[in-house]
Amino acid sequence: MTSLVDSFGRSIDYMRISVTDRCDLRCIYCASSDFKAITHEEVLRYEEINRVVEAAATLGVTKIRLTGGEPLTRLNLAELVRMLSSIDGIEEVSMTTNATRLARYASELKQSGLKRVNISLDSLQPAKFTQITGGDKLADVLAGIEAANKTGLTPVKINMVVLKGINDNEIPDFVRKTIIDGWHVRFIEHMPFQNSDSRGKGLVSSEAIMTLIRHQFGELIPHHPEVGNGPASYYRLAGAKGTLGFIGAVTDCFCEGCNRFRLTADGKLRPCLLDNDEIDIKAALRRGASIDELAEIIQSAAMTKREKHHLSDGNVPAGRSMRQIGG
Ligand code: 5AD
Ligand code: SF4
Repeated sequence: MTSLVDSFGRSIDYMRISVTDRCDLRCIYCASSDFKAITHEEVLRYEEINRVVEAAATLGVTKIRLTGGEPLTRLNLAELVRMLSSIDGIEEVSMTTNATRLARYASELKQSGLKRVNISLDSLQPAKFTQITGGDKLADVLAGIEAANKTGLTPVKINMVVLKGINDNEIPDFVRKTIIDGWHVRFIEHMPFQNSDSRGKGLVSSEAIMTLIRHQFGELIPHHPEVGNGPASYYRLAGAKGTLGFIGAVTDCFCEGCNRFRLTADGKLRPCLLDNDEIDIKAALRRGASIDELAEIIQSAAMTKREKHHLSDGNVPAGRSMRQIGG
């Protein structure tokens, strides 16, 4: 097996796949209200996604994460999970979901080979949840979290995007969840995409969140998780079962250790979340390209990965929204 290494010497073994740009929520930081979904014909079919992953696996990709939009808006997602988890070399298939439909599908997904889920949840208050997401679905999400834990899609990680003046007053409530219910919560700095409805909102930095937590709850003890430690740094409070993660998406450039690339729902390879460069792989798929040819396209896409993003210099990418890229 060859391995996928970019021009800065980073090994790429992790692929994030947006299976759809559709979603049953409308989070203010994710897409603008005039967002138009792509057509059915443009979306990669499961067989096509499967072939891209087969090619990626020959290059040493071992981890797959399904994202969206909301992956569970796509029919029979468990079938895709089953296909991808049986590819030689693929060690882990996980998913990022808003969990509104997770209670219904958790056990089927687990049986199909899904290892674990990350769940987006930005408020524990029904009215605030609706204000942020446009949907009255907090109870469904909480049921989804419970189902994920019960079924063993663990460790379940809760992602909270911290929005200044909107949900930052709930940070202590999320911290308490790590103490009382053993939740693993990650606080994500809000990335102000130009084409989202939340652009222009101020930043609550990871450092500010950590200071607040230390002040109210005491020492943050560094913690090194066994699985999936990506761009977050992890801590826990004394006596807490759950952990606290901090993703400095804006202030802390974690590009140096970047090990990933993305596949968009409409079949473009996207080497960097925050760079608009994309390489089409759908055309090759649809003209019947071999696995070797697909692997070559992936290899050349990896070589175009940028060294780092420039969010902390106020350089905010326009172009696609998170719903299209897959977070
Ligand atoms: N800033 C930070 N995080 C975001 N996400 C989506 N949009 C943004 C943004 N503008 C997060 C979601 C989800 C993951 C897929 O990406 O909360 O957990
Ligand atoms: Fe949907 Fe996730 Fe975007 Fe919210 S952040 S609108 S749940 S895709």
